[in-house]
Amino acid sequence: MRRPAKIAPPKGKLGVLTVGLGAVSTTFMAGVDLVRTGAAQPIGSLTQLGTIRLGRRTEKRSPLIKKFVPLEKLENIVFGAWDLFPDSAYEAAAKAAVLSPQDLTKAQNFLSGIHPMKAAFNRDYVKRLDGPHVKKAKTKYDLALEIKEDIARFKKENKLSRLVIIWCGSTEIFLTLDKVHSSAAKFEEAMKQNHPAIAPSMLYAWAAITSGVPFANGAPNLTVDTPALQELARKHRVPICGKDFKTGQTLLKTILAPGFKARMLGVEGWFSTNILGNRDGEVLDDPESFKTKEESKLGVLEYILQPKLYPNLYGNICHKVRINYYPPRGDNKEGWDNIDIFGWLNYPMQIKVDFLCRDSILAAPIVLDLVLFLDLAQRAGMRGIQEWLSFYFKSPMCAPELYPEHDLFIQSMKLKNTLRWMMGEDLITHLGNEYYD
Ligand SMILES: NC(=O)c1ccc[n+]([C@@H]2O[C@H](COP(=O)([O-])OP(=O)(O)OC[C@H]3O[C@@H](n4cnc5c(N)ncnc54)[C@H](O)[C@@H]3O)[C@@H](O)[C@H]2O)c1
Repeated sequence: MRRPAKIAPPKGKLGVLTVGLGAVSTTFMAGVDLVRTGAAQPIGSLTQLGTIRLGRRTEKRSPLIKKFVPLEKLENIVFGAWDLFPDSAYEAAAKAAVLSPQDLTKAQNFLSGIHPMKAAFNRDYVKRLDGPHVKKAKTKYDLALEIKEDIARFKKENKLSRLVIIWCGSTEIFLTLDKVHSSAAKFEEAMKQNHPAIAPSMLYAWAAITSGVPFANGAPNLTVDTPALQELARKHRVPICGKDFKTGQTLLKTILAPGFKARMLGVEGWFSTNILGNRDGEVLDDPESFKTKEESKLGVLEYILQPKLYPNLYGNICHKVRINYYPPRGDNKEGWDNIDIFGWLNYPMQIKVDFLCRDSILAAPIVLDLVLFLDLAQRAGMRGIQEWLSFYFKSPMCAPELYPEHDLFIQSMKLKNTLRWMMGEDLITHLGNEYYD
């Protein structure tokens, strides 16, 4: 990929369409509104609070990322969504019960004005959900065309210059790559034939990409991670990324595991269990949706610890992940980790982590950053998989010949070096031996 000769400035307004108007989307939308009205701080958002060091340490240049790269301002963002329930964003946020009544009241006017468009939904792909606000059409192809019309209408009605679409919908059942995902032509034919390998999330991704709109996937579904949609993304010059927001337990895993490996400490077992009681938890209670999530969560350690390179340390790990739907907890998930490690002379040790987290509070700033960075990438002429955004995902998408990078610190370095590269600044290697000449 060539360095962008120039990055188009963010002129006009940016539209954000979320697929799904549930806990994560409404917490994201309410949060952006509270931040732009000065009622809250954008905590957790790299684009809003992060700085980036430029040049040598002695130069003392560390601007805010949002001052360094031309990101869209929060004031210029317009929100919309699709969902199979007709509730406004206010009603959906009240049901999700993530935000306090005080915060909900502050965002009430704004959220009450956001009404979802009808969803392309099929219960075969999310067994625990059913809702009345759905599109009806003969084929999946017709549904995808209706989504394209929604996108065009939303853009026109709100006088937007650009759009980003992000999947914040429920986790679909586990699907593997099929022949019909191998090329754009086969994919289109399969939509017309109502082929079972085409899930609703893929219809949104296809509609976004063929409308020239960047697309991010916040759930572990296959969605845009297929050769067909990647071919279309390159053709339509659209940046894409996914899968599955890296928020709670997996975030901690990708912080801790690189540390163990850096110090050559062995790991014998890692048992992770979660209780959560939101709608996401209810959907994940279905074994087929859980399988999709499990695959996404299990891959992380394998890639970070590299058991083939370090068979004595990581060759025999017992790694288990459990998710239990437990309604009393609502969105406030509890994730426990028991980690059995061993050190010098094989002496065993244990680490226990109990993360009492808030799922959507951790996910919302990720949605914001992804939206702003994807819009930036598109204005910079970058297309296809944006591997530099792996930082935000549990199962980062990457080129077919590569393995995904999971180590949070490598991901963070890659993200910041990509920003430096886009802006023609020197990359930072942390070598620093020139100070000792
Ligand atoms: N920390 C996190 O919260 C986190 C982390 C990683 C991934 N995720 C994923 O993000 C997604 C959203 O999480 P959430 O907590 O907001 O869930 P949620 O259940 O509150 O919201 C999902 C919404 O998507 C809607 N939906 C489902 N299928 C749809 C379709 N085909 N079209 C339109 N709308 C559809 C549902 O009706 C629901 O309102 C889930 O897949 C979850 O696994 C969340």
